[in-house]
Amino acid sequence: MTRVITYGTYDLLHYGHIRLLERAKALGDYLIVGVTADDFDKTRGKINVQQSLMERIEAVRATGIADEIIIEEYEGQKIDDIRKYDIDIFTVGSDWKGKFDYLNEYCKVVYLDRTEGISSSEIREEKRQIRLGLVGGSGFLNKVFAEAQFVNGIHVSAVWTSQAERMQCQLKELMVGSYEELLGKVDAVYIRSLPELHYEQAKKALSMGKSVLCEAPLTLNETETLELFSIAEENHGILMEAIKTAYSTAFSRLLLLVKGGKIGKIISVDATCTSLRKDATDWPGIYEWGPTALLPIFALLGTEFKSETILFQDQKQVDIFAKMEFIFKNAVASASVGDGVKSEGELIISGTKGYAYVPAPWWKTDYFELRYEDPSENRRYFYQLDGEGIRYELVAFARAVEKGKALPNISLQTTKAISETMGQFAKRENCTVIRG
Ligand code: CTP
Repeated sequence: MTRVITYGTYDLLHYGHIRLLERAKALGDYLIVGVTADDFDKTRGKINVQQSLMERIEAVRATGIADEIIIEEYEGQKIDDIRKYDIDIFTVGSDWKGKFDYLNEYCKVVYLDRTEGISSSEIREEKRQIRLGLVGGSGFLNKVFAEAQFVNGIHVSAVWTSQAERMQCQLKELMVGSYEELLGKVDAVYIRSLPELHYEQAKKALSMGKSVLCEAPLTLNETETLELFSIAEENHGILMEAIKTAYSTAFSRLLLLVKGGKIGKIISVDATCTSLRKDATDWPGIYEWGPTALLPIFALLGTEFKSETILFQDQKQVDIFAKMEFIFKNAVASASVGDGVKSEGELIISGTKGYAYVPAPWWKTDYFELRYEDPSENRRYFYQLDGEGIRYELVAFARAVEKGKALPNISLQTTKAISETMGQFAKRENCTVIRG
């Protein structure tokens, strides 16, 4: 009996896949199909897959062509599978020609002609293109534009900025003269303006039925934040707060493990984010860093707390460093944020059984450790992070707009608390100011 194996993602199963499977089966008597797991796809840069692993497996099963379906979970698994399942022929489409020649050592390798004119990527692109407008006075728009190129279903179609000279050529071509003009050309906006402008800009867009992805803090108080979410709902638009760290796989896994009790009861969360002021035209850094540093604190400890801030200003009364202290019922936390002061940008979560350590720069999380009294129990975790999380954030936003329902990685509670805390900071409430 000739045993054949083939692998693929099989997202939105199409006739190209079916033709491939039929020809793979015809190469032998028994066909095993390896369907790639979501995490594995992510590590190899396939971030736009629309269907879950189970949906994709079901679709392959429903073709009735596969005799057996397995899941491909890790790099190098193909060799393991060929040995384990006693495979005679490995086959894939000709788009992979040459890439799997190394498997010739284990079995015969056959590249089948790919069906012209169809692919999952094209189907995803065709489903719906969200015309995205980029708004704000920050060079960061260049980064968002670059990351949007990796996201199926999003097309940047207009830019409105007060910082024209900082935009790359491609963005310069998309520039419009007013916010209103931009809103007339797009389905959704990404906002990275000064925090005090967010409320009006988001409100205007949402009232017109546009969706909004807005950098944190969404507004500078809880009431305005809630109002924006209700305007979004009334107008059937999506509103999402953008904090790229929330969309890193490692950061999400860290929260799950810690919430699941891996380090016992959480007693303290200490987050530090600092940078040296490169560019005085960008946001005041404390507003930029504050929401990121607050994210793990509120996500892990909730939002019932008392807080106090110590703010350092330089001689020109520019904010350069703030230490925000929080007291919860059974825990404490601190967020140290600086723009003009440099420190180790780490995140430490202390618990009754051990602690979680995320090395600098923790906000671009791809690695963390759970550490214990007995070092032999320590565990290390690594998850690939592409595009600092911006790419995944855009994928989540595109999916939410398409489905008409957001499943954000940041809870409404956290978003509200970030708005309120940053608003209090702006008003210098519960804040001691030290001038240098
Ligand atoms: N395949 C094919 N003809 C197509 C599309 C895919 O023969 N038009 C084959 C691939 O070569 C591979 C298998 O089907 O052997 C599964 O491919 P997969 O990557 O899941 O499908 P794509 O449509 O290529 O997906 P994407 O656009 O996301 O890369």
